[in-house]
Amino acid sequence: MTARRALITGITGQDGSYLAEFLLDRGYQVHGMVRRSSTEKFERIEQIRDRLELHQGDLLDQRSLVDTLRASRPDEIYNLAAMSYVAASWVQPTLTAEFSGIGVTRLLEAMREACPEARFYQASSSEMFGKVREVPQTELTPFYPRSPYGVAKAYGHFITVNYRESYGLHATSGILFNHESPRRGLEFVTRKITWHAAAIKLGLQTKLKLGNLDAERDWGFAGDYVRAMWLMLQEDQADDFVIATGSAHSVRECLQIAFDQVGVSLDGHVETDPGLLRPAEVEQLIGDAGKAKRMLGWEPEVSFEELIRMMVDADLALLSRDPGARRAYGR
Ligand code: NAP
Ligand code: GDD
Repeated sequence: MTARRALITGITGQDGSYLAEFLLDRGYQVHGMVRRSSTEKFERIEQIRDRLELHQGDLLDQRSLVDTLRASRPDEIYNLAAMSYVAASWVQPTLTAEFSGIGVTRLLEAMREACPEARFYQASSSEMFGKVREVPQTELTPFYPRSPYGVAKAYGHFITVNYRESYGLHATSGILFNHESPRRGLEFVTRKITWHAAAIKLGLQTKLKLGNLDAERDWGFAGDYVRAMWLMLQEDQADDFVIATGSAHSVRECLQIAFDQVGVSLDGHVETDPGLLRPAEVEQLIGDAGKAKRMLGWEPEVSFEELIRMMVDADLALLSRDPGARRAYGR
C-alpha cells in the first residue's frame, strides 16, 4: 500500500514538529513547507530531518504555495504556519493579517488549483473568543477578538468555512486553546516561566519580569493537541472543533508550580512590569471540547500541573547541559 502523504506548513514550529513525528509514526510520507532564511531554524525537527521532505515556500507568496502543493501531492494539508505571538501582533498588525489571515486564502486557492481532493486543516485559535461572550466557549460561541492576531485568525477561520461551503473543499477549522511543551517558544508565558525557574535554580538568572499575573488560560500539552488535528482530518465530513482541557489556570498558578518544582521561593525573584501588559487583554479562556470527545473520541492525557513540571524538568536538563542555551528547545 502506498503511504499517505501530508504537507505541514509551519513544520519548524512547536506544533509542526510534534505533528510531523506523530504522522511519521503512522507511516505517512511527511512534507514540510519552510521559509528561506540566512540561518536555518530547524532545531525542533533535527531528530527527524532526514525522514522529511522540505519545500521552500512562504504564505506571502502564491507561486511558492502552488509549487509546494504540486511537488508534495498531499492527501492532507495542515496549515500551521502563522505569526503566532499575540503580543507581536500589535507591533506588526498588517504583516500578521497577511500571514495569519490572507495567507489562509492563498493556501486554499493553491489547493483549489493543485489538489482540490486533499483534506485541509486550519490552525484556528481560542484567541478569537477574546472578550468572551459565554463560559465555557464552544464551536457556537460568537467571536470577539482582542488583538490583531485574533482578528486575523477569525478571518482565517471564516475563509476556511467559506471555502468548504462555496467549493465543497474538505476544509476543517480546529479552534485550539493554548497548548505548550518543552518546545514552546521562549516568549510565551509558560515557557518564559519554566525557563526562568530553571535558570534561577541553577544561578544563571536572578529575576523574572512578567505582565498580567491574573490572566487565566486553558492550557494543554501540544502532543495531545496534534493528535486532535489528525483525528479531525480522518472524519468524512469537514467541520469545526474546539480542542481544550476544560480547566483554566492563572499565570500566578503556573509560577507557583514551576518554582515549587525547582524548590525555590517566589519571593524576590518575580517582578511585574507594566511594559508587558497588552493594549487589550484576554482575561480568561476556558473551552468545552465536548464535541471533539463525542465525535473524535479525543481527550487530553496530560494535566496542567504535569505539563508545567515536564517543562521545568526539560529546561533544567537543557540549561544544565548548556548554560548558554538561551535559544534552544528541549526535546
Ligand atoms: P510557532 O511555534 O510560532 O510556529 C509557527 C510556524 O509558522 C513556524 O514554523 C514559522 O516558521 C511558520 N511561519 C510563520 N510565518 C510564516 C510564513 N509567512 N510562511 C511560512 N511559514 C511561516 O507556533 P505553534 O505554537 O506551533 O502554533 C502553530 C499554529 O497554531 C499557529 O498558526 C498558531 O497561530 C496556531 N495556534 C497555536 C496555539 C498554541 O497555543 N500553540 C493555539 C491555537 C492556535 P519559522 O520557523 O521560519 O519562523
Ligand atoms: N507572553 C507573555 N509574557 N505573556 C504574559 C506575560 C509575559 O511576560 N505576563 C503575563 N502574560 C499573560 C498574557 O498577557 C496572556 O494573558 C497570557 O499570559 C498568555 O500569554 P501567551 O503565553 O503569550 O499566550 P496567548 O494566550 O497570548 O496566545 C497563545 O495562545 C493562543 C490560543 O489562545 C499563542 O499560542 C497563540 O498563538 C494562540 O492562538
